[in-house]
Amino acid sequence: MEIIYASNYEEMSRKAAIAIAQQVIKKPTSVLGFATGSTPLRTYEMLSEYHRLGIVDFSSINTFNLDEYVGLSSDHPQSYSFFMYKNLFYQIQLDPNRIHIPSGTASDLSKERADYEEAIQSLGGIDFQLLGLGPNGHIGFNEPGTQLNSITHVVSLSQETIKANSRFFTKLEEVPKKAITMGIKTIMNNRKILLLVSGEKKAEIIRRALSGPINEEIPASVLQLHPNATVVIDQSIL
Ligand code: F6R
Repeated sequence: MEIIYASNYEEMSRKAAIAIAQQVIKKPTSVLGFATGSTPLRTYEMLSEYHRLGIVDFSSINTFNLDEYVGLSSDHPQSYSFFMYKNLFYQIQLDPNRIHIPSGTASDLSKERADYEEAIQSLGGIDFQLLGLGPNGHIGFNEPGTQLNSITHVVSLSQETIKANSRFFTKLEEVPKKAITMGIKTIMNNRKILLLVSGEKKAEIIRRALSGPINEEIPASVLQLHPNATVVIDQSIL
């Protein structure tokens, strides 16, 4: 695992945007995995700018998002689908047929999770996965205690995650209690992983994830075993 320190959020974001742009330039048909949340926002702005400048052509990529809240439709302003279209997909004018986000409103969630795994396989797997880190060590919505061999599944969000994510909702009670997420094994199968670490309350958890034992209590710790993982840490949070 490669660990890179960036002096601040801006530099972390630039390193991530450049790595993703290089991936797309090297392989225009790349399958990219994306995350939502505060951490990748500036990275997405930079990718949008590369598109506007005409220096990166995203028209042939396919994308898979990590997760979605159960119960929120794609046009709900707090859904992860809405977030992705607003902050990246509209900006880079990506054909919706190339965009894959698990549906939080599917009538049969068990089928939805199986279909999602199958869709990833049918496009040959994910070349490059961007990840953020939860303050409790989660990746995707794989909360502490999630089996390390899990594939796409429905999870009950921890109180800590519900509280952390309530900043995007008007009331704590509005935060969905469940989500559908790529599993840890699904994430580990992705060929390249880039974990971005920035934001409040991440200093202690990233230290434990990178240098502590690998176990289910800190899902991100499993990334120590990934053969092609890079972590970019915004040093200003340490
Ligand atoms: C988002 C996701 C989560 C976030 C994590 C960090 O799709 O899967 O794991 O990456 O909760 O969120 P922020 O970046 O808001 O601190």
